[in-house]
Amino acid sequence: MLSLALRSTRKRCRLNGRDALSTAARAVVIWPGWEASPTMCPRHGLLQESRKASNGTWRPVSALDEWVAREARPISLRQLMVFGRSLTESRLISSANYVRTELPARIAHRLRDMQQLPYVVVTNPHINEVYDLYYNAFDQFRKMKEIKTLEDNEKLCDIISLNLKGHLTVIPKLAMGILECGGLMDPQYLDKFMNTILRSRISRRVIAEQHLSLTETFNSPYFSPGAKLSESDFIGEVFIRCSAKDVIERCAKAVTALARSTNGPGVPIPEINVVGHLDASFPYILSHIEYIVGELLRNSVQAVIERHQKRNMASAPSPVEVTICEAQEHVIFRISDRGGGIPRAELPYLWSFSKGPNSQHRLENLGQVPRMAATMQELHIEDELGRADLKTPTYQSSHSSLSSLSSRPPGLRLGMGLPLSRVYAEYWAGNLHLHSLEGYGVDAFLQISRLGNKNEQLVTRASMDSV
Ligand SMILES: Nc1ncnc2c1ncn2[C@@H]1O[C@H](COP(=O)(O)OP(=O)(O)OP(=O)(O)O)[C@@H](O)[C@H]1O
Ligand SMILES: [Mg+2]
Repeated sequence: MLSLALRSTRKRCRLNGRDALSTAARAVVIWPGWEASPTMCPRHGLLQESRKASNGTWRPVSALDEWVAREARPISLRQLMVFGRSLTESRLISSANYVRTELPARIAHRLRDMQQLPYVVVTNPHINEVYDLYYNAFDQFRKMKEIKTLEDNEKLCDIISLNLKGHLTVIPKLAMGILECGGLMDPQYLDKFMNTILRSRISRRVIAEQHLSLTETFNSPYFSPGAKLSESDFIGEVFIRCSAKDVIERCAKAVTALARSTNGPGVPIPEINVVGHLDASFPYILSHIEYIVGELLRNSVQAVIERHQKRNMASAPSPVEVTICEAQEHVIFRISDRGGGIPRAELPYLWSFSKGPNSQHRLENLGQVPRMAATMQELHIEDELGRADLKTPTYQSSHSSLSSLSSRPPGLRLGMGLPLSRVYAEYWAGNLHLHSLEGYGVDAFLQISRLGNKNEQLVTRASMDSV
């Protein structure tokens, strides 16, 4: 018997005694025993899941069911640090087995989410491509045998690296898919789906990159097993003492250089000042905080430049002020600019990936970005960001080498900066809010958990609200 997942009711036809949609491809039909890959039912013109994947191979659904049934086991920054602090061979092997079992479970959940999308959405060529990428990764990891030796671990690391590189196309593909499907389903639902899938993507990359980093540390000639690391070190990808002021200053330098190269040498660029609790520090993944702060500064600097140009003023553009506040459990960043505020027409779509009336324009821009790692480095500002020189861990960070594979024209606006920054901020239990003062400027508030003891947040706030 067929199991049906129906999404709405319009014109109906009967199928095996159950109601199903006959029109706009709104059902997902899963044949027991086989993994889903949607096609049209020739008899009813209905949506159904075929038993064959697009490459013609058969996919048993029981494999996916089994992994969907496993809950993800969330981790915190503190756990990552404690685990990696005194690294030994047996710890590395148990990290490998955590990754080997955790990745397919987390991917399986997203595959199931995608199967439950309406037919028109899941068959969108971009979304479908992501589905296939995910399925192949799922299949590879689920078939891996238990890791018992360092050699087994090397093989696992090769597969992880290949997947990390191969999946750099995922963000632009998803974003284009969501923009193209904008009119086809409730934008709120699309955004919730996008938030969940991006957050899960970050989570998988964190555990994958953390394991690659630990392996690199273990293999490094300077490494002695069980040796304790100092506070100024990285443990894997986690930077133990991330200085708030340093982050702002590095990102400010990078954003200033970027603004100069996009706007030309004659255009005055606003200064970026930092005040407040300049000694604040917290454990964090550097690429995450740099991405968020970089995007907020980029928006502020660009808004001030544009306003200054419009007003044709002789005086210097007003500075962007960053205030750091270290509270008991949080570090809060306030980024204030006098760039005139967010245009009223943009406000309803600020946090949305489907972008309303701007979707066509964003789609054209996204078409020029085949790969995206969502890091500051991919804006070709590695030198200015200075991370590699300043805080290189003993191993070569896999993340920075990965982001050099992707690149993005710096002036191109994709409408991704704010929604993606919020996904990053909420992932480690932080948050991001904006207050726009119409005609004056914007205050952005970024709150980061200071203690690193919060678990990664795999469920989006929106989906928690709906529980
Ligand atoms: N500080 C700000 N001042 C004025 N407008 C802003 C500010 N921050 C954001 N905006 C407005 O909100 C829109 C969305 O911002 P967002 O960062 O999400 O995307 P983007 O900057 O257009 O593109 P991307 O960040 O992907 O390059 C911007 O296009 C801009 O119009
Ligand atoms: Mg932006």
